Amino acid sequence: MDLLDHARAVRENAHAPYSNFKVGAALRTTSGAVFTGCNVENVAYPEGTCAEAGAIAAMCAAGEYEIAEIAVIADSPSPVPPCGGCRQKIAEFANAAAAVTLATVAGESQVTSVSALLPGAFDASHMA
Ligand code: THU
Repeated sequence: MDLLDHARAVRENAHAPYSNFKVGAALRTTSGAVFTGCNVENVAYPEGTCAEAGAIAAMCAAGEYEIAEIAVIADSPSPVPPCGGCRQKIAEFANAAAAVTLATVAGESQVTSVSALLPGAFDASHMA
């Protein structure tokens, strides 16, 4: 299955009663495994988590830590980009050139990269 199809499918499981904005994310690791996540909101709004964070948590729980590519989808008027916090979370586990596919449920999509989404990222080198 295409990575975007995985993201489209997991989006259906999102818990988004407050925003009514369901998001699905799917990532492929360098080993070829696919992990998915959806947004999980909470009545205490700041406790909600993004779809990308869910997919990354599933990846780490399985003992994998290298994102080769990631796709995000929502019922958005234009291809939905990861929020700022998720850009940093993705950068933790992906190369600068890793592909990030942004998509809409309607079928529009756009491919960009981790470095294009988060230029000048803070990384471990800054703590050396
Ligand atoms: N959301 C994500 O899951 N990923 C993003 O990259 C953008 C925003 C979620 C968070 C919240 O549940 C809802 O979308 C509205 O912001």
